[in-house]
Amino acid sequence: MGTARLGTTRQDIERAAELLRQGELVAFPTETVYGLGAHAMDAAAVDKIFQAKGRPADNPLIVHIAHRVQLADLADNLPPVAEKLIESFWPGPLTLVLPRQPGVPDRVTAGLSTVAVRMPNHPVALSLLQTAGVPVAAPSANRSGRPSPTAAVHVLEDLDGKITAVVDGGTTGVGVESTVLDVTVDPPMILRPGGVTKEMLRQVIGPLQEDLSLKRNSGEEMDPALAPAANGRIATAPRSPGMKYTHYAPRGEMWIVEGPVDKQVELIQTLVDKSTAEGTRTGVLTTDEHQAAYRADAVLSCGKREALETVAAGLYGVLRRFDELGVERIYAESFPEAGIGAAIMNRLRKAAGYRVIR
Ligand code: TXA
Ligand code: MG
Repeated sequence: MGTARLGTTRQDIERAAELLRQGELVAFPTETVYGLGAHAMDAAAVDKIFQAKGRPADNPLIVHIAHRVQLADLADNLPPVAEKLIESFWPGPLTLVLPRQPGVPDRVTAGLSTVAVRMPNHPVALSLLQTAGVPVAAPSANRSGRPSPTAAVHVLEDLDGKITAVVDGGTTGVGVESTVLDVTVDPPMILRPGGVTKEMLRQVIGPLQEDLSLKRNSGEEMDPALAPAANGRIATAPRSPGMKYTHYAPRGEMWIVEGPVDKQVELIQTLVDKSTAEGTRTGVLTTDEHQAAYRADAVLSCGKREALETVAAGLYGVLRRFDELGVERIYAESFPEAGIGAAIMNRLRKAAGYRVIR
């Protein structure tokens, strides 16, 4: 079975919406990454997501809505802080973990007492969700363990023939997934850094906590116990089930190089030369500012270090490109962890399996 390629005409959106209502899988663009959508209240439809992605069953899904009123069927007893966040950041790249309504299928929440919900800020996503008129469960539209798709062609690379349709709305904007914030605890806890930054959240709601596993995974406090075990899990138990799996991984072995930027460039070139001399096909993940400074089999820029949002937007596409080029080892520059930099470094560390060199 082939996957239907749809555009964004009214007719295409109506077709995609009808497929969703009928329990079929439809991939669609959001402002972060492409999502793989299924009717959230249809357990059999949701089940197909896990099959198509090869996703572990204990990893819950984010439910996408187009209107605030749709929240009533999904979540209950909203804490006041949730109202403030919705007003400030929806539609946008902020997922809220809320107390669930009993009607939400266990398949969506992996049996948790909470449900994750977001309203994407993308005209095609919103129009599809409005037309479908049902809440849509949607993880990133990649095979489990692959970098999230930021273009329809990435979705097809991973899922062609496994899903009914993909709506091609061009490349996504933010490029990394939404921030996941648990508001069932006080103060609210960041489970996954993303497009809405810690700094932005603090301005609206004040104090925040961060999932301990995120802190430990940051370079300042490398814990060897966090190195992924052979079964692909990390040795701590993060609150967001998805965070325990190694993710976003390119096929080549990736190393992150930390330290002052000019020293990074020097050290990376030394490492590349050594690795190349050993006969390993070696790549460098860099930015426009330093692209010309390297000699390697593949030197790929994600964007401009001066404008970190361009690095976020380009990151996953570059990870996929290394695979296409058959790169066996990748050395990556690192980035300051302020603003969107926190999400970039979180994804880079996961992609690298927490391999860091200083
Ligand atoms: O930007 C995004 O969020 C994209 C687009 C498509 O909206 N979606 C996405 O979904 O990244 P996914 O499935 O790749 O990531 C969902 C994350 C996982 O880490 C999962 O464990 C967490 O959200 N999550 C979902 N429900 C949860 C819950 N009830 N409690 C805690 N974490 C939850
Ligand atoms: Mg994902």
